[in-house]
Amino acid sequence: MKKICFIALLCLACCLNSFAQKNIPVLREDNIEEVIAAMTTEEKVSLLVGASSSLVPGAAGYTREIERLGIPMTVLADGPAGLRIQPKRDGANQTFYCTGFPTSTLLASSWDPELVETVTTAMGNEVLEYGVDVLLAPGMNLHRNPLCGRNFEYYSEDPLLSGKMAAAYIRGIQKNGVGTSAKHFAANNQEINRLENDARVSNRALRELYLKNFEIAVKEGKPWTVMSSYNKLNGDYTQQSQGLLTTLLRDEWGFDGIVMTDWGVKDNTVKSAKAGNDLMEPGRPVEEERLLAAINSGEISQEELDRNVRNMLNYIIRTPHFRKYNYSNKPDLKAHAQVARKAAEESIILLKNEGNTLPLKGNEKAALYGINSVDFVAIGTGSGEVNTAHIANMQEAMSAAGFSLDEDLAEYYCLCYATQTATEKMNGSAIDKRHRPESSVSLKAIERQAQDNDVAVLVLGRIAGEGADRVVPDDFELSSIEREMLQNISMNYHKAGKKVVVVLNTVGVIETASWKHLADAIVLPWAPGQEGAYAVADVLCGKVNPSGKLPTTFPINYMDTPSSKNFPYTWDMTQGRRGNRKNVDFTDYEEGIWVGYRYFQTNNVEVSYPFGYGLSYTTFNYSKPKVKADKDGFTATITVTNTGKMAGREVVELYVAAPAGGLEKPARELKAFAKTKLLAPGESETLTMKVSAYELASFNEKTASWETAAGEYKVLFGASSADIHTTASFRMKKTQSWPVKIMW
Ligand code: BGC
Repeated sequence: MKKICFIALLCLACCLNSFAQKNIPVLREDNIEEVIAAMTTEEKVSLLVGASSSLVPGAAGYTREIERLGIPMTVLADGPAGLRIQPKRDGANQTFYCTGFPTSTLLASSWDPELVETVTTAMGNEVLEYGVDVLLAPGMNLHRNPLCGRNFEYYSEDPLLSGKMAAAYIRGIQKNGVGTSAKHFAANNQEINRLENDARVSNRALRELYLKNFEIAVKEGKPWTVMSSYNKLNGDYTQQSQGLLTTLLRDEWGFDGIVMTDWGVKDNTVKSAKAGNDLMEPGRPVEEERLLAAINSGEISQEELDRNVRNMLNYIIRTPHFRKYNYSNKPDLKAHAQVARKAAEESIILLKNEGNTLPLKGNEKAALYGINSVDFVAIGTGSGEVNTAHIANMQEAMSAAGFSLDEDLAEYYCLCYATQTATEKMNGSAIDKRHRPESSVSLKAIERQAQDNDVAVLVLGRIAGEGADRVVPDDFELSSIEREMLQNISMNYHKAGKKVVVVLNTVGVIETASWKHLADAIVLPWAPGQEGAYAVADVLCGKVNPSGKLPTTFPINYMDTPSSKNFPYTWDMTQGRRGNRKNVDFTDYEEGIWVGYRYFQTNNVEVSYPFGYGLSYTTFNYSKPKVKADKDGFTATITVTNTGKMAGREVVELYVAAPAGGLEKPARELKAFAKTKLLAPGESETLTMKVSAYELASFNEKTASWETAAGEYKVLFGASSADIHTTASFRMKKTQSWPVKIMW
């Protein structure tokens, strides 16, 4: 009898257990609330704090798996110039290289959102096929100052160009069913003391510049995630700012994804979670402890906890890991290399072309100078660097294009590079490549080379990246070796009746005004990705007609840029008292809205190359400017005709000059842009650009609202911010305004 009772009890226990198991929900798209209800507090908290794993070696971070509820781990890895993962794995008989696409500043130079979307459609395929759920990109802080070390990861000094590019970037990646993370939100415009710096910015500059690009990207691109930045904004860490992450991002802009921290742990995890920062990355046990304690004490309410968990689950159900996508680890790198090359071709900028020096024929004997002709700067350093299988350099690319290179010179640079890298290996540390010594060539050798060759091509390189800003001497400005070499090349080649071409293979803006007269032509590919050197060679020989334009001004002197007064370009660790160092612990954005061309154009300050500038091998005529006002703004059309002898594309930039009275405004502001298709000589195309009344608005701090004044607006159709071809105007009948929910 006893035995029978025992068996009966055992059966009952088994039944109850399997009943309970059956009632544990497994995450589906339509049962998020049920899953939340079944989660323990510990499980909820674990979902809000990142995990470590080796699932995809080299990925930057992970979210936690909760197996019993069918919640998979998801994988986050860096961009923006391509996917950043480790290329080799122990025991694997294959490699995991990714494509190094052109950097963001070059992509923005295309002024072609469609092109950007094509690029990131290919990039997103690598994200998917290598088993990653979210690419930690686009980087989209503004080019406030030319020295910011991460400018190459960002697009432009202008929020409209930056926002449109980022939106296109996001659309392309997310087409693949993987996510993006628009970063670093917000006002993260310097690397020095980046974890602690307090960016002090007026509400107007924030709204019109530093938040505007994010607003466009969030509304038009709909990123799955946003990454809050390390820095403070007007006294509060951005990751702890309820105003920024909830009132603005979600309530005002309609963002419906998750916010994650940038990769560091701040003390006040609880404040971050309450503010709407759903995910702490990379995640530390102490963050879980703090969250648990705050939930137990009631400091974090159940609603707040569930809100963040709900956001996380809504994110997770979109991911490939949730879909159990069977990734191949074999994206088509060959095809993507072609996409990268084409993108560079469509974006390279021609800054100078005296006497039609370019295009060359392509079969010339060319003397190729500069250490960066071998050590080509494809991307930058830090988390924005991509592990590519190969980076084409200018020697390879020019030879492939048909040039015959001066062999002695080519060998000399290969040797210099080999010696430098061998020394690096021996010392166990990489040379800071920004200061990779340029290897000088003697005057005597240059004299001889000028006789032996048809043309000189000098590659000037600059590299930078996360964690450090650039400096003025030997970086923004040429080093003395570079200057001397350029002078000697210029003197000797010109004496021999030959031309000098400079290629600016730089991650950012450099000083050009003092030396540009020494070159006949200047080509700017920025850091154009692994195939970029081929694109440069194709521009040099005319296989490609350049159509890129500057997304950022080249000032004459560094100090001409208004933010330079408040940028830590002379930072010394030992200087000042910790916690109160100007430009280090805090940075006053004293220049307000007067950033880039907004300042230079309005104040008639001469620049070396203006925002929006770029030459072509052909010429374009603008005709029939038309502007039609409607109740929501205006539509503009302009006809562009190729009046030269070579097929080419033209970017038309539409600037608006607002009526006088009301808020003080820049002389002109970019409000739209469009790029023609490839126009054959004689061919025309009519471009259409639409601008809404809201997009015309400026931010009035007194009324806490966006305002578009009534009156006569001038519409300027320009080939650059300083080269307006034709104008039209329209009248805005009524003043319109849009109040906002939050000020800082
Ligand atoms: C960078 C981010 C990056 C993250 C993960 C941080 O240091 O600021 O841009 O996504 O690391 O690697």
